[in-house]
Amino acid sequence: MQDRVDQIIEANGAQESALLAVLMDIQSEYNYLPRPALERVSEKLGVSMSRISYMATFFTAFSLEERGRHITTVCMGTACHVRGAPRLVEELERVLEIKAGETTADKQFSLETVNCVGACALGPLIIVDGEYQGNMTSPKVSRLITKLRKED
Ligand code: FES
Repeated sequence: MQDRVDQIIEANGAQESALLAVLMDIQSEYNYLPRPALERVSEKLGVSMSRISYMATFFTAFSLEERGRHITTVCMGTACHVRGAPRLVEELERVLEIKAGETTADKQFSLETVNCVGACALGPLIIVDGEYQGNMTSPKVSRLITKLRKED
C-alpha cells in the first residue's frame, strides 16, 4: 500500500496544499481512507494526523471505514420513502445478506442510506457507484445486484 500512496503523493506534490487532492485520490483508489495511508500522508506532507482526521470527517465524500467495491446507496428522503424506498432497503439487505451500513464479507458491496439527493422525480432511487438509478423496484434491485456480481 505504501508504494501506491507514495505515487499518489508524488503525483499531487508532497506539500501541505495538496492534502485534499491526495485524500481524494486515496479515497478513489481504496474506496475509503485506510489508516496506514493517512499516517504516510501525515509523514510525507508534514500535516498532523488531527488535521487529516478533521478533513476526513468534514467531507462526506471521504470514508474512514473500509467499504465494498460497489457502493449501493438508497435514498430515504420523504419522496423516495413514500414511494417504497424502505422495501428497496429490505430487498438489498436480503440479497446482499447484510444490514444497511454494512459491507459484505467479500468486500464487494456496501449498503448505505442517504437523505434526499435532490432527484425526487426519479424516486424511489438508488445510487450505485455514483450512478442514479430511478424508479426502482425490488425485482430491478435484485437484477442489478446479480448483474454486478456477474461482471466482477
Ligand atoms: S427524496 Fe429521494 S431524491 Fe429526494
